[in-house]
Amino acid sequence: MSSVIIVGSQWGDEGKGKIVDFLSEKADAVARYQGGHNAGHTVVINDEKFILHLIPSGILYKGKICLIGNGVVVDPAALIEEINGLRKRGVEVGKNLFLSKNAHLIMPYHMAIEKGKERLRGIKMLGTTGRGIGPAYADKTARTGIRVADLLQPQVFRENLKANLFDINFLLENLYKVSPFNIEDIYNEYMGYAEKLSGYIGDTDIIINKMISENKNVLFEGAQGTLLDIDHGTYPYVTSSNPIAGGACTGLGVGPTKISKVLGVVKAYTTRVGSGPFPTEITDSLGDKLRERGGEYGATTGRPRRCGWLDMVILRHSARINGLTGIALTKLDILDAIDVIKICTSYKYKGKTLEEFPKEINILEECEPVYEEVNGWSTSTIGIKDFKRLPKAAKAYIKKIEKMLGVKVQIISTGQRRDELIQLKGQF
Ligand code: IMP
Repeated sequence: MSSVIIVGSQWGDEGKGKIVDFLSEKADAVARYQGGHNAGHTVVINDEKFILHLIPSGILYKGKICLIGNGVVVDPAALIEEINGLRKRGVEVGKNLFLSKNAHLIMPYHMAIEKGKERLRGIKMLGTTGRGIGPAYADKTARTGIRVADLLQPQVFRENLKANLFDINFLLENLYKVSPFNIEDIYNEYMGYAEKLSGYIGDTDIIINKMISENKNVLFEGAQGTLLDIDHGTYPYVTSSNPIAGGACTGLGVGPTKISKVLGVVKAYTTRVGSGPFPTEITDSLGDKLRERGGEYGATTGRPRRCGWLDMVILRHSARINGLTGIALTKLDILDAIDVIKICTSYKYKGKTLEEFPKEINILEECEPVYEEVNGWSTSTIGIKDFKRLPKAAKAYIKKIEKMLGVKVQIISTGQRRDELIQLKGQF
């Protein structure tokens, strides 16, 4: 009888999909609270790979209620494609999926604006996923967004669309020098989506709170990660939502008093896609080795991920901001072939030691990591399911992380497959 938030502790891609999938077995509901189809959650079941973008990973278990909360931005075409793709592979998607009326829609002009903005930024481009996420959240905050509920009221949808296109088309034509959008084309396209999605649209805040009051087990599935948080990440090289634990409350309409635990997913090393500072980035062949061993290519865009060492400065920030009650350590096995492993304990900036993550992006850009070295274990940990069977040096690495963060490691993932995992403490 718990509500557990699963949150990314680094720059996303920590392996949250696998952890959510594992914990879903004992959950009654799994809910997404922010982001959109910029996310790519990979789950491997019996060598069959599933990549989920919008639908909570819990969908892969029968009989779980899956919710897409108000904090998510939804591209209806992407959602329909995902539903159809899962159905084709025999996954049940029907009465088990609910889409919040309050979630905002990604519109075709959001992609066009994002493209135009990135082009104008030139070398200072953010390196976004190009899915229209930022402009959709910008419209939400500017109170000009179009919501899922509007799909059910064609007249309201048309009026909102007309008002938006008035200035957006001006911007597209005159600033970004691209073709404007036609109201009828978008209206007809989205009314088509409305027909396909109407059966899923509901009051997700009421559904989830009812389940919590009935003592059901609920999982909140974060997308992206803490360092990509719009408020607490490496701004402006962030996404436009709140992936942190607090985002689960606003993104679903659940009060903080109803949350029991916050499990931070930590990759045994660090990766980042897109632009922005990354103090522990490894730029030599060792970085390439980690990328190849770890399959570090974006699940959504296929872009190669930048790889680096574990960074305690960002993880301390993450543990604090999210109020972590436990850690799920992932991809431990990727370090099997590394002789000497480095852990960043602080930064050096202009001769000074920084223990805490600096808020100024230009300072972070100039920070040099201070490392502590630990021995690797040079033996395979793939598929180990019992902590006692881990090599001594791997156990020492895990204990060091716990000690440095003051948070217990409760799950250790030792491979891609669902069952390649050590559970030290249950969440429900
Ligand atoms: P956006 O979310 O598409 O606006 O992209 C903003 C930044 O967040 C870029 O650096 C992206 O690479 C990054 N990003 C967005 N979604 C993910 C994700 O699921 N994993 C890792 N990085 C992401």
